[in-house]
Amino acid sequence: MNILVIGGAGYIGSHVTREFLDNGHNCTVFDNLSSGLRGNLFPEASFFHGDIHDYPHLLKTMKSGGFDALIHLAASKAAGESMLKPEKYSHNNIAGTLNILNAASEAGIKNIVFSSSAAVYGNPQYLPIDEKHPTLPENYYGFTKLEIERFLGWYEKLKGINYACLRYFNAAGYDIKGRIKGLEQNPANLIPIIMETACGIRKEMQVFGNDYDTPDGTCIRGYVHASDLAAGHSLALDYISKEQKSLTVNLGSEKGFSVTEVIETARKVTGKPIPAKIAGRRAGDPAKLYDSSTLAFETLGWKARYSDMETLIKTSWDVYKNER
Ligand code: UFG
Repeated sequence: MNILVIGGAGYIGSHVTREFLDNGHNCTVFDNLSSGLRGNLFPEASFFHGDIHDYPHLLKTMKSGGFDALIHLAASKAAGESMLKPEKYSHNNIAGTLNILNAASEAGIKNIVFSSSAAVYGNPQYLPIDEKHPTLPENYYGFTKLEIERFLGWYEKLKGINYACLRYFNAAGYDIKGRIKGLEQNPANLIPIIMETACGIRKEMQVFGNDYDTPDGTCIRGYVHASDLAAGHSLALDYISKEQKSLTVNLGSEKGFSVTEVIETARKVTGKPIPAKIAGRRAGDPAKLYDSSTLAFETLGWKARYSDMETLIKTSWDVYKNER
């Protein structure tokens, strides 16, 4: 297939592009390099340096390639930041995505795989969270992802677009074959922050709250390896294009780890002390969030293969240990 990967130079986008290339597809990456990196591009994929807010350029790109599908990963993704800077999330995640949906409709691209998020669920009413769980986001980021899911539902009805909404749990880890090495810029997520502390980019890190209703008081999250996510995109695109049907599924490892457990595993794997200080709670953080990904298995045959905590940390450390 001929695939346009919007946000393909980013952390997850580069893993997804690699997977499609490995599976024999043609890929074109469209990215403004605001958080993506030139070093995450692959010579086999064409590259357009462009912004989703530049509608004429976006439309021209979409019309130029005879694309069968687009993958949309271009978004801001820090849940904590979204509570402080909602305007940024409205602009990038909502306005930017509407440009993509309108341009795709105009260019006649019929298959869209969208990076959604477990943040659409909010505080769990039961665990593990499956796709039937109510969607009541706790943070503005999650709200933006949920809104796009709803827009996609309308574009399916009105424009005949097949979509897959992939609700990622916490993405982490680096390419299992070691081909992707771009560090995330100013990361806000736990595992890259732990890595930055382990390799000395940071002196110490903070644990946001140890008074949650969890066994050790720190928040519990389900994690998923970037290589597993990439495989999920490929299977989801096969499904929606062959079945001519849309789909919304969780992608996670069906296991939760507390912040303290993640830090302790990282200390063990890296052999570094990783100083961590207890700080106040971060706004918008649910106490526990982990998935049932049974539906992804039943519909796509997808299952997390590399998402155990040791592999998540080890593949990250393989990239970070060369820094400093
Ligand atoms: N945390 C710390 N210290 C840090 C960073 C994070 O204690 O320096 C804690 C957070 O408070 C939270 C946990 O680690 O309890 C995980 O936080 P992340 O920022 O890594 O991830 P979130 O769970 O907030 O959100 C992430 C992605 C979202 C995605 C969500 C899905 O950033 O895009 O996972 O589960 F939607």
